[in-house]
Amino acid sequence: MKADEFTHTPVLLQEVLVGLEIQAQGIYVDATFGRGGHSLAILQRLNQHGRLLVFDKDPLAITCAEQLARKDERVAFVHASFSEIGLHIEQRGHMGAVNGILFDLGMSSPQLDNAERGFSFSRDGELDMRMNSAAGISAAEWIKSAKKEEITQVLREYGEERFARRIARKIVEYRREKDITRTAQLAEIIASAVPFREREKHPATRSFQAIRIFINNELGELRLALDQVNRVLRPGGRLAVISFHSLEDRIVKRFMREQALGDDYPPELPVTVDQLRPRMKLIGKAVKPGTEEIAGNPRARSAVLRFAEKLAA
Ligand SMILES: C[S@@+](CC[C@H](N)C(=O)[O-])C[C@H]1O[C@@H](n2cnc3c(N)ncnc32)[C@H](O)[C@@H]1O
Repeated sequence: MKADEFTHTPVLLQEVLVGLEIQAQGIYVDATFGRGGHSLAILQRLNQHGRLLVFDKDPLAITCAEQLARKDERVAFVHASFSEIGLHIEQRGHMGAVNGILFDLGMSSPQLDNAERGFSFSRDGELDMRMNSAAGISAAEWIKSAKKEEITQVLREYGEERFARRIARKIVEYRREKDITRTAQLAEIIASAVPFREREKHPATRSFQAIRIFINNELGELRLALDQVNRVLRPGGRLAVISFHSLEDRIVKRFMREQALGDDYPPELPVTVDQLRPRMKLIGKAVKPGTEEIAGNPRARSAVLRFAEKLAA
């Protein structure tokens, strides 16, 4: 499989560039390189002193990043989770010096479109769902051994699936007879467990989302990464996060709000705003794609972009 066989259209590209207020000689981090759509646009705005460090867990995404780094000496790449951002920034001597960080969360189109990656309920493939296929357990392995209650909880918590219990029961019944190893097989089992259908939504949409989030520990890694951004950024440096579902967006919104509010004192204590020591300020409101972008790229439809800026200590 060649890394560049599939393409990805960057979401909210102009909005990201404007909101990051890119400084030509600045140091930037693209925490989710994918196929480099945002990275390339950031690079166009950097001069020869600017630097871009990119992360991705996905081996194919990193192959693309490596190709870019070979052509452009301003680029460095890390094949790791963005939850290790602090470590890698420290190793490069950029701690507290970064001008902007972008997280464009979730999956890339190449991951979704390539049936072999096992993310898609509409394209049959091995039931894998790992962004880094060399680490952790696949969805098939998990489904084979997880308890019914655990499956129910994952579908409920990460998919907000109201038929979680029924689906988990069906999965457990089915696997007594036969292993569940293919995406189409799992999609069918789920469809047979769901009593009625939402319009224009495959009945397995929520469950596939839930299993993917669980298998890749997406929410845990996002929380870990956000906890490090203040140390990574320089004062005035900006954080941009694009989320694709409410669970992610809730974490991002809450994090930015807490940073903007500062330390958490009991309400009865008489503290001034200065004493609360806010660490970031919110920049603008949540940005969503317009109808034109959604018409050209339907995968942008659920995107929400938020910005915050690190304050001087
Ligand atoms: C929506 S795509 C990014 C697309 C990219 N902005 C572009 O324009 O091509 C998300 C990427 O983030 C990667 N990713 C998701 N979670 C990650 C994590 N915890 N650490 C590193 N990369 C991650 C995925 O492998 C995927 O390639």
